[in-house]
Amino acid sequence: MTTVRLNSADPVSYDTDALIVGFHVAPDGLTPTAEGLDAAFGGKLANSLTSVGFSGKPGELAKVPTFGAIAAPLLVAVGLGESHDLEGLRRAAGAAVRALAGTQRAAVALPASADGEAEAVSLGALLGAYSFGKYRSEDKAPVAELTVLGEGSADRAAVLAESVALVRDLVNTAPSDLWPGKFAEIAEQTGTKAGLTVEVLDEKQLKDAGYGGIVGVGQGSVNPPRLVRLSYSHPEAAKTLAFVGKGITFDSGGLSLKPSASMDWMKSDMGGAGAVFGALVAIAKLGLKVNAIGYLCLAENMPSGTAQRPSDVLHSYSGKTVEVLDTDAEGRLVLMDGIARAAEDNPDLIVDIATLTGAQIVALGWRTAGVMSNDDDVRDLVVEVAGEQGEGAWGMPLPEELRKGLDSPVADLANLHPERWGGMLTAGIFLREFVPDGVKWAHIDMAGPAFNKGEPHGYTPKGGTGAITRTLIGLAERHASA
Ligand code: BES
Ligand code: MN
Ligand code: ZN
Repeated sequence: MTTVRLNSADPVSYDTDALIVGFHVAPDGLTPTAEGLDAAFGGKLANSLTSVGFSGKPGELAKVPTFGAIAAPLLVAVGLGESHDLEGLRRAAGAAVRALAGTQRAAVALPASADGEAEAVSLGALLGAYSFGKYRSEDKAPVAELTVLGEGSADRAAVLAESVALVRDLVNTAPSDLWPGKFAEIAEQTGTKAGLTVEVLDEKQLKDAGYGGIVGVGQGSVNPPRLVRLSYSHPEAAKTLAFVGKGITFDSGGLSLKPSASMDWMKSDMGGAGAVFGALVAIAKLGLKVNAIGYLCLAENMPSGTAQRPSDVLHSYSGKTVEVLDTDAEGRLVLMDGIARAAEDNPDLIVDIATLTGAQIVALGWRTAGVMSNDDDVRDLVVEVAGEQGEGAWGMPLPEELRKGLDSPVADLANLHPERWGGMLTAGIFLREFVPDGVKWAHIDMAGPAFNKGEPHGYTPKGGTGAITRTLIGLAERHASA
């Protein structure tokens, strides 16, 4: 695991293998964020960078040898554009550190004096240093020791980065190595170590307690389902938050089988439960003055002779019955039980997090999660907190006219709307049916953001991203007592 520390040393004389320097685009050319740097190069650094095509655009990188002009043998220039915000710093630090895989030590000279800057630089650097080597015989190790040249603290950044790495590892792990029981075991071990109280319900307990949704989705797999409850409390807490995560360790679609091209990345369908788990661990480590409860709704959605069938009727934990018209709309079936269970804790707010619909990707693309709620202020708050953390999210409506499409001729509700249009919204409307009156609730659909099928960018690697973990931590911070 990469470590980070802060140091107020002079970047020009700092002994390290690589010095990362930010460059702003100014009317008179490039200006480095490290003081005295251009002077150390006889005033020629900015010009040389321009001559190799570096223009200072956000995220742009150039590696240049320093020929003894400064203590570090290698300089990595990273673009910041004309000005930067905290997310710009996180991304620049992440992109530069990612490009230095295989290097032992790197120092980061990005703006790190104003409020939050040192933390943002540290966090971006740590997130960019992530790599998943579990199944590789040879891999370039990420930068081992990072030094951020500046003032402030990197403590919160280290906690956040560790949780995000935990979530990325879980998402990236092959589904043959991460089935519901295994995930529950990891949550129990890691959660207990972090100071959480952990309870696990197995398939028999789930059946006896009436969790028809989780049992129905999980019954086609040889790896039975689990419901994990993680709880954290603080004596000075005034608010209680409940997070409910979709944890489908693999989504084949079940008997409503997915086509192959949609299936190969469905190991990421537990990203919501991953984010809840990672957030709870971080909340405990940070000692936030809030009560937080996390539910991981874990099941493997597989076709088999014991699998649930289209037209089966499930008895949900809330008491409502649901006709399963499509076994691939399974996320809402495990979440309906998790949400109803979470309401029993009398939380001030329930937030569910799920890789719920392909329609989210159609509507908002890969990097922007959809946020729905039964309360406009709550929806806006979730979007605002996500924005602060640099996680893309956008408020979406729950239009009333879509509700009647979820009527079933045989049960209280159907799990599929006859129209595919607005599929992200109909899924949200389905879930809202399981939130008791008077309880505030938000739903985050992050089908796209949970998994990066494209090239790495900023501090985001290929594969599992750990998306929304930091938004949940931020929400807990917003609800913490002063
Ligand atoms: N896990 C999928 C949604 C998904 C799609 C996540 C792409 C990540 C990337 C979910 O269980 C699913 O299959 N949803 C269906 C719902 C439909 C049958 C109503 C979908 O979106 O097609
Ligand atoms: Mn599905
Ligand atoms: Zn799914």
